[in-house]
Amino acid sequence: MKRDFIHITDYKLSEIHDFLDTSVEIKNRLHRGEVFKPFEGKSLAMIFAKPSARTRVSFETGFFRLGGHALYLGPNDIGIGKREAVKDIARVLSRYNDMIMARLFDHQHMIELAETSSIPVINGLTDYNHPCQIMADILTIYEHRGNLDNCKVVYVGDGNNIVNSWLKLASTIPLDFTCLCPNGFEPDKATLKLAQESNLSSIKVTDNVSDGVLGADVIYTDVWASMGQKEEAEAREKIFSNFQVNSKMMNMTNKETLFMHCLPAERGREVTDAVIESSNSIVFDQAENRMHAQNAIMVKLMKESNS
Ligand code: CP
Ligand code: NVA
Repeated sequence: MKRDFIHITDYKLSEIHDFLDTSVEIKNRLHRGEVFKPFEGKSLAMIFAKPSARTRVSFETGFFRLGGHALYLGPNDIGIGKREAVKDIARVLSRYNDMIMARLFDHQHMIELAETSSIPVINGLTDYNHPCQIMADILTIYEHRGNLDNCKVVYVGDGNNIVNSWLKLASTIPLDFTCLCPNGFEPDKATLKLAQESNLSSIKVTDNVSDGVLGADVIYTDVWASMGQKEEAEAREKIFSNFQVNSKMMNMTNKETLFMHCLPAERGREVTDAVIESSNSIVFDQAENRMHAQNAIMVKLMKESNS
């Protein structure tokens, strides 16, 4: 039996806590310079249908530091779903490797890849979600606050793949989560409903900036036009202009508020230089934690598929 990491909701609350504990443990071991090589002799195939800096480098470096070898397969190498059927590449890569990480456009392709591979598949972002990012985010908040209790997270901007993963997390662990977005840019309806109906978290979607950000412990934003939507960037700039995270917005929380961004940031658009460079900004801790959170995920999946 193998397990995949496609949605946060594929895991129970206790497993999410295990991921966090293991992330901290492996992070400390790496920071202490300890030799820890659970992936000795193993290989990770990384499929990228979209560009990436953090996901590629954190997976490749993380897998290498834990003793294994990671292969980069870029947009021109496979042509997943175009040059070759998803189920064919799934079975071929399963014959050579121990694990697959993929960044794809179509979420259904990710699901098919997981269903037809005989080795664990990790979702490194689709148009629908980005679960590894949210595991790194929650780890970062946990490290900065010491706990996740009564933490109000306000996501500002487009109701995109990042928000869908936050909602999935809110369906699993109790959170106070607000999505502050312009009308017409709300997150996926079914995912929102799932989070609301889980009755675990307080979930709000609003376009009222002053009301939305009040009391925020964390303000989080992302680009207004995601990969695959860049031709809409100019039109979106007008629609989103009131949703820029700037010093005025940060002051409207009436609280000491942390700033987060999954990166890459388009400085001057969704966030100002002043905010991203401020002492409340934890974006680089967040970026580092991609590697630690993913290492914990990979260690668990590898262990479970070998047992
Ligand atoms: N945050 C994130 O996934 O960054 P990349 O697109 O650079 O991988
Ligand atoms: N929403 C962004 C996230 C990038 C990490 C995108 O999909 O482009």
